[in-house]
Amino acid sequence: MAASENSTAEWESQYLHVLSAFLAMEPVGSVIALARECNGGSITDGAQRFLWEICVKAAASGNGSYAKKLLKKLINEVEVENGEVLDELYEEYALYMSTSKEDILAKENIRITKFISFLFPEGSYKHPSCPLSRKLVIHLQCSLNMLEGGTGCSIWPSSLFLSEFVLSFPELFANKSCFEVGSGVGMVGICLAHVKAKKVILTDGDLLTLSNMRLNLERNHLNYDDELLNQTGEAQSTRIKCMHLPWETASESELSKYCPDIILGADVIYDPSCLPHLLRVLVALLRKPTKRDNGSLKTEDNRDAQQGCSPKVAYIASVIRNADTFNAFLTLVDQMDLSITDVTAELTPRFELLPYMHSYDRSSVRLFSISSR
Ligand SMILES: C[S@@+](CC[C@H](N)C(=O)[O-])C[C@H]1O[C@@H](n2cnc3c(N)ncnc32)[C@H](O)[C@@H]1O
Repeated sequence: MAASENSTAEWESQYLHVLSAFLAMEPVGSVIALARECNGGSITDGAQRFLWEICVKAAASGNGSYAKKLLKKLINEVEVENGEVLDELYEEYALYMSTSKEDILAKENIRITKFISFLFPEGSYKHPSCPLSRKLVIHLQCSLNMLEGGTGCSIWPSSLFLSEFVLSFPELFANKSCFEVGSGVGMVGICLAHVKAKKVILTDGDLLTLSNMRLNLERNHLNYDDELLNQTGEAQSTRIKCMHLPWETASESELSKYCPDIILGADVIYDPSCLPHLLRVLVALLRKPTKRDNGSLKTEDNRDAQQGCSPKVAYIASVIRNADTFNAFLTLVDQMDLSITDVTAELTPRFELLPYMHSYDRSSVRLFSISSR
């Protein structure tokens, strides 16, 4: 089926999961498996054409090596099944083969751009966070691999979980002041802005991560650091601030200025040496402001504090990779007079917004709520 025989919109809707997986740079085998699912298990001419015309062509100007990998696997799978490979696929692959890997990489940044599509399922269309287009696509520049850009330039499963959580329970975050620790690429913050949190403070201890996060906010048309108009010139309802905040040096007086309603963190429990510092930050952010604190607050924060902070809570999403590290975290939580509850079952995201993302194992993530005793 050629693009001309069908409108691109209809085509994209038929292959929505395939396109979403491709744009999120899921493993190429997974993209092809999704294309098979659309056609009873086989890779039809229509599926090949969609992968070539819509996916591969779109990637040509950016993520060329990923497109090359997809083409190679696609051709291989069709050939193994004695199917007919479209000529265009051979031609495109030959073009990639004649370009050296160095040339492809030189054209690309060492950073790649993933487009994470949150797809709102049927039945959720009237939900407050569901956009008219029924999908929210977030552009995220990430590092090509873990060696470049530190851990904060990759997307971790807990931030996918926390993003689904925010989009599923917008009423918990709308009009609230939110503070995230170890924000990485900034995806959770972008979701918080989508559900109209009043204020979003995104922080990270790594400067490279912070500048990448700022770039991601710009790419998603969000202004930060007190620019109140977004890039389309409309008033932006959420105030966003990006801040360098290494847990080791964060001072209590600095933290007491913010008085957030909700603190968030995704995949921040992994380095035992950082845990006491992280806990100190959480304790300071969870503390209700005293009168003395109020006196020293800046005007705007003072106003928030005087309105009275609702019960403060920290939502920390985590994959427990090392039981000893997690137990050390629990011990510190107890020593610092905080209470922690596993709320994964109770607050599991209502909607599965990333159904195409087979690399994301939602069940591996636990959600904890932490508050002062
Ligand atoms: C595993 S990454 C998770 C990033 C993001 N939250 C996500 O889930 O995609 C951990 C994040 O915590 C930040 N981080 C690690 N140690 C830190 C510290 N001591 N102070 C502040 N941030 C820190 C890293 O820079 C990184 O962005």
